[in-house]
Amino acid sequence: MSLQSYPPMPASEPGLRPAKESTVAPAIEVRKLSISFEEHAVLDNVSFRVREGETKVILGESASGKTVLIKLISGLIKPDSGKVFIFGKEITPLSEDELMSIRKDIGVVFQESALFDSLSVLENVAYRLHEEGGHSETEIEERVSEVLGFVGLEQTMNLMPSDLSGGMKRRVSIARALITHPKIILYDEPTAGLDPLTGRTIVELILRLRDLEGVSSVLVTHRLTDAFTVASERFQDPNGEASRPRLKGRSQQRAELLTSFVVLKNGGVFFDGSEEELLAAQKQQPFIREFLS
Ligand SMILES: Nc1ncnc2c1ncn2[C@@H]1O[C@H](COP(=O)(O)OP(=O)(O)O)[C@@H](O)[C@H]1O
Ligand SMILES: [Mg+2]
Repeated sequence: MSLQSYPPMPASEPGLRPAKESTVAPAIEVRKLSISFEEHAVLDNVSFRVREGETKVILGESASGKTVLIKLISGLIKPDSGKVFIFGKEITPLSEDELMSIRKDIGVVFQESALFDSLSVLENVAYRLHEEGGHSETEIEERVSEVLGFVGLEQTMNLMPSDLSGGMKRRVSIARALITHPKIILYDEPTAGLDPLTGRTIVELILRLRDLEGVSSVLVTHRLTDAFTVASERFQDPNGEASRPRLKGRSQQRAELLTSFVVLKNGGVFFDGSEEELLAAQKQQPFIREFLS
């Protein structure tokens, strides 16, 4: 099952050409972001980049500002200082209206799914299309059916969130994030509270979106096993069709290139690098060692 109308992954694999990286705008860049709430500095001078096609795993203790970071990147809140760039365009000074078109490129999978309890699955998933306006009911239903198909839940369209299991809610929430065919997806603890098997189905969707659709993403997670799965695996199509052509033979290398880690501590970026570098850093850094243990 693939998401037919997604643009095909570029054959040139832009994220894999570090030599040219400087000439290609990253999918996301946060530059010296700072934000305080009631004089408590939550993020202080946070900078990092997410290359096109890359997944950036964000690790950090509870209340370290991970959700705030996701809200800043999606333009839901504005920083006190610093800048957010999406594909090279600075979004920080944009008005709500101007942000609408940028937000089409950014899907957010909120913590705890955050579905509207009083709306059906169809209405939840279609929410942004209604908000945007200009879509016929037939078009909306087709698109909802397409994204629900992608997460394997076409049959739930007319159910209410209360009819769904925790894992199904997360999948609906991913479908909702996909409705505008975003090039970027921000996942906020998408597997929290799920049993490992159900969590695995969510991780597979994340891999599939990265490896088959070329989506760039930020993955906030407490579950290190999920983070390392995303870093070391690539999506395996059970039918063996879609995933073969470009990735064969370099899968491991590619997955590593396409996943990197940021560790937040005391409002700042404590670590930013590859899985290999993270594992090496734990030897010198008790904080990382503690975090990874
Ligand atoms: N709108 C807000 N008003 C006041 N404090 C907030 C607000 N949003 C977040 N915070 C505070 O910012 C800190 C980081 O929150 P959050 O990003 O949700 O942490 P986490 O890393 O667990 O996702 C917490 O101390 C939280 O209480
Ligand atoms: Mg959070």
